Amino acid sequence: MKTFLFPGSFDPFSLGHRDIAKRAADLCDRLVVAVLNNRGKSPVFSLQERVEMANQSLSGVPGVEVISYVGLLVDLYRNVDAAAVVRGLRAESDFRIEAEMAAANKLLNPDYEVILLPSSADMVFISSSTIKEVAFFGGDVSKMVCPQIAEFVKAKISERKA
Ligand code: PNS
Repeated sequence: MKTFLFPGSFDPFSLGHRDIAKRAADLCDRLVVAVLNNRGKSPVFSLQERVEMANQSLSGVPGVEVISYVGLLVDLYRNVDAAAVVRGLRAESDFRIEAEMAAANKLLNPDYEVILLPSSADMVFISSSTIKEVAFFGGDVSKMVCPQIAEFVKAKISERKA
């Protein structure tokens, strides 16, 4: 049973995340999508909301489970008996961040491995921060998130404007 772990802050879960999750799920027996906190970012959505959005966005994708975790990624990696972490790569700038994170995690756990999947061409410009920016100013996010969560994303962001 080969388990891959796809961690992220998913604030919110985008079509780009869905694309990576679907492709990663095809490469393993079980894909654990883990919603974590990135201490360098202040999330707009709660952990529970982010899990719910990931679940809705991934409904119908076989072999995937969504969890939340508070703590170190390497500890979760051990807990779920992961063979590798999967992360999406959009641009060159992502690579630097991913390489640094992978090196730090490998120091903590020498068994830690990462698979970097390049974003599909039509997903390269989708990011959670762009989604939040567009939604904040009332723009259309329907090409960036799954239809099941688009209204929720818009409503939650406009709540913050009030
Ligand atoms: O979607 P993001 O914000 O790029 O995801 C980053 C995330 C959540 C995977 C990373 O911040 C993380 O692993 N957080 C958990 C705490 C941890 O292990 N930090 C050390 C990473 S070197």
